[in-house]
Amino acid sequence: MGFIVHLNPNLGDHEHIKAEKRGQKNNVGFIQLNRPKALNALCDGLMKEVSQVLDEFEKDKEIGCIVLTGSDRAFAAGADIKEMQNQTFSKVYGGNFLNHWNRVAECKKPVIAAVNGFALGGGCELAMMCDIIYAGEKAQFGQPEISLGTIPGAGGTQRLIRAVGKSKAMELILTADRINAQDAQSSGLVSKVFPVDQLVTETIKQAEKIASFSKLTVAMCKEAVNAANEMSLREGLHFEKRVFHATFATDDRKEGMSAFVEKRPAKFTDS
Ligand code: HXC
Repeated sequence: MGFIVHLNPNLGDHEHIKAEKRGQKNNVGFIQLNRPKALNALCDGLMKEVSQVLDEFEKDKEIGCIVLTGSDRAFAAGADIKEMQNQTFSKVYGGNFLNHWNRVAECKKPVIAAVNGFALGGGCELAMMCDIIYAGEKAQFGQPEISLGTIPGAGGTQRLIRAVGKSKAMELILTADRINAQDAQSSGLVSKVFPVDQLVTETIKQAEKIASFSKLTVAMCKEAVNAANEMSLREGLHFEKRVFHATFATDDRKEGMSAFVEKRPAKFTDS
């Protein structure tokens, strides 16, 4: 499976997650949620640790792609219900409760979710903050917040509809029903399904592929694709064209095209 190297003495030393560098070239940042007794329920401390590690991974010039996973039983069973149970409106509104969850969606480097087991509520939302979702055959996705008397609060009502369309999104959010990996793939939420025990290895292989390209171009590409969610088609096409033009200011565009013409592998320098 490649190397496991800790970035710094603190990186592997978290309470709720494990973080390592993986891949033959140590170019994949790997985060594993690790609260097995609570099915990786996303307590505040866990999300803060994920944010801290993402800050480290973003700074690390070797890392070109990040993989976020859980355990075979659960990617994450949602926000921590026990932590939310006694919250009040004045506290959550006043303190902007869970506002920092957005860190994953704001990552400049691509993030792939490798989902085995439950991805429910905030767990499903966390997966949707990633750029690509791969699932193990036994994965289950759902937004059961309605059964707790609340609603999805970390993007579920917005990202799910963009991923699967209105009818399916409404159905999942209003009924609290779960869908399995195969249905999630056919509805567009998930892009590939793997056997449970191969999910992480296969996801890391895909991450290594992404990390082998120019990190500069990958970031530009990600920004352009994400613009489709924020802009009208006209604005988005204009933005895409400008970013495309901007790639002509990079060494890596020159190198990529020269390598093709000279029939040799490209050597990108992320410049
Ligand atoms: C806290 C949780 C939890 C959660 C599971 N656990 N999910 N603790 N928050 N979200 C804990 C259980 O309390 C239990 O610990 C242990 O994990 C194992 O769970 P069981 O229920 O015993 O396991 P099982 O019978 O296999 O059922 C699995 C499950 C169920 C179907 C996933 O645990 C479940 O329905 N969980 C809640 C799913 C959910 O509603 N998620 C949405 C949360 S709201 P103990 O110690 O008690 O035995 C949300 C809002 C997001 O996410 C908004 C973000 C801004």
